[in-house]
Amino acid sequence: MRFLTTALTSALALCGATAASGLVKRGSLQQVNDFGANTSGTKMYIYVPDNLAVSPAIIVAIHYCTGTASAYYNGTPYASLAEKYGFIVIYPESPYDGTCWDVSSAEALRYPRLTCFYASHDGGADSNSIVNMVSYTLDTYNGDKSSVFVTGTSSGAMMTNVLAAAYPDVFAAGIAYAGVPATCFYTGTVNGWNSTCSQGQLNLTQDYWANAALNAYPGYDGPRPRMRIHHGTADTTLYPQNYYETIKQWTGVFGYSTTPSETYPDTPRSPYTRYVFGPNVEGVLGEGITHGIDIFGDADMQWFGFTGSSTTTTATSPSSTLATSSATATATAGPGGEQYTQCGGVGWTGVTTCVSPYTCQKLNDYYFQCL
Ligand SMILES: *[C@@H]1O[C@H](CO)[C@@H](O)[C@H](O)[C@H]1NC(C)=O
Ligand SMILES: *[C@@H]1O[C@H](CO)[C@@H](O)[C@H](O)[C@H]1NC(C)=O
Ligand SMILES: *[C@@H]1O[C@H](CO)[C@@H](O)[C@H](O)[C@H]1NC(C)=O
Repeated sequence: MRFLTTALTSALALCGATAASGLVKRGSLQQVNDFGANTSGTKMYIYVPDNLAVSPAIIVAIHYCTGTASAYYNGTPYASLAEKYGFIVIYPESPYDGTCWDVSSAEALRYPRLTCFYASHDGGADSNSIVNMVSYTLDTYNGDKSSVFVTGTSSGAMMTNVLAAAYPDVFAAGIAYAGVPATCFYTGTVNGWNSTCSQGQLNLTQDYWANAALNAYPGYDGPRPRMRIHHGTADTTLYPQNYYETIKQWTGVFGYSTTPSETYPDTPRSPYTRYVFGPNVEGVLGEGITHGIDIFGDADMQWFGFTGSSTTTTATSPSSTLATSSATATATAGPGGEQYTQCGGVGWTGVTTCVSPYTCQKLNDYYFQCL
């Protein structure tokens, strides 16, 4: 069984701020204003299904840069799957301009103080706020502590890896759609952009990445989340080397080889291939897929344990997943300027104009994206 630590539980009692707040309306996206300490100003949205389980599982679903809780709620299948399986979805929303997540500061990459979990004045990154949202939801809805999951796309996938590394006591499994390994985006600044990492220039050892995850929560030796890592081989926003580095991280954590033990072509569907590295780590690599990656809701349900071992599923297309535009990123392969590709930023030497109807938008000094 998996518990939040005793220290955390007693901290909830000591610091607990939330028990009295009202329950939200079910069956629609709702904001929760009072979920506990929230130093970084992260917003909490929640979907509590009409069909709520008695002791519900929780999925944290984390948006991409420029995204919002509402966009991710509308563009991913998790809310409708919540009605089917009875779990609650938490959609955090980034507090920063450009709505990337802080996966770069020292605060984001360290387990916060356990002396008063909700009042961690020095660990107050977005990751801390998100875990406080989980604690609030477990408390408020009699949630199943052993069934808390996290997934996200792009910057949300980076956060997925950070949360899985820093809070192995909270999350039972994670699925990262086109992210980077935990700590890869380190800059020492809040909401920074690490181009060395994004451009796939890091090729480090399995030990390096495993230690980067293991050291996020020193002294912890309980179970760790099972991880599935999705990426596209034609991703020019977060280069595909990030897939291999992330696989090194989680296979290293579990002591597996980086060579897959099983390979399933056309799974969940062409052009994706599913790789099994061991019971707790899988990769799904999309040949020719860009940063506009598909989300596989049914396969996600299987990885999180809501369904059996079926792996062939239909995908949600990136057009509905990532943007309101009708054009899909995967349908516009070309020399640059496609949707979601980088088009500027400090040190950028590639294409700076975007294919119509996309325009080059500044997310931060280091990263402009065709959107
Ligand atoms: C967290 O910060 C956001 C943004 O300022 C705010 O909307 C929300 O109410 C805050 N929640 C808490 C519990 O402080
Ligand atoms: C980017 O991250 C790598 C490790 O992930 C680190 O070596 C490098 O110093 C970082 N770059 C910046 C600008 O902080
Ligand atoms: C990464 O480093 C390993 C070991 O030095 C090497 O075998 C491999 O070819 C490198 N991969 C890339 C993409 O540079």
